[in-house]
Amino acid sequence: MYVREAQCHELDAIYAMGFDVWGDGISYEEYLVGCRESQKYQAGTWYVLIDNEQILSSLIVYQNKFALKDDCFGIGSVATPNRFRRRGYASKLVNLVKTELFAHRNCKAIFLYSDIDQQFYSKLGFITVKGCDCMYAPSPGFEFDGSLPAYF
Ligand SMILES: CC(C)(COP(=O)(O)OP(=O)(O)OC[C@H]1O[C@@H](n2cnc3c(N)ncnc32)[C@H](O)[C@@H]1OP(=O)(O)O)[C@@H](O)C(=O)NCCC(=O)NCCS
Repeated sequence: MYVREAQCHELDAIYAMGFDVWGDGISYEEYLVGCRESQKYQAGTWYVLIDNEQILSSLIVYQNKFALKDDCFGIGSVATPNRFRRRGYASKLVNLVKTELFAHRNCKAIFLYSDIDQQFYSKLGFITVKGCDCMYAPSPGFEFDGSLPAYF
């Protein structure tokens, strides 16, 4: 099992993973068009967890966007295909991406906005910013100064 950047031809499959929660009652076709045209999605880099050439989970990484400070990254749109959920794949992907950003990208902290119970992310080392959905994972020595990135 390993992580790599997603390839363009995989994007529709990635978007499909979140349709059940982010589809908001629109048709699958309309949802796909919205994802393909999304400036937010185009602003980031998608990563996928792979095993046996199959995509098991995905997320997007942002840098230099949404008022994220230098050397801080954002992650979002974490999703696993319905049939693969609750097998630890999203946790594995978040952990591997975290390790990669801290070890090789000079990352000081990773921010996210959680749509789900924050416990999922706190188990993965993310700290809640009191009173909001924002959480961050600090590298050693990072001091959070209280300034939040814009919602992403
Ligand atoms: C959330 C999600 C990415 C988890 O993927 P996964 O591969 O099943 O994750 P893991 O197996 O590593 O962890 C499963 C844990 O996720 C948590 N979880 C999943 N869905 C959740 C939800 N809607 N609310 C709160 N926690 C949730 C639970 O703690 C679960 O643990 P449990 O099996 O002990 O109950 C997946 O359910 C998904 O794609 N959901 C739709 C998209 C979404 O809501 N993404 C979150 C954006 S912040």
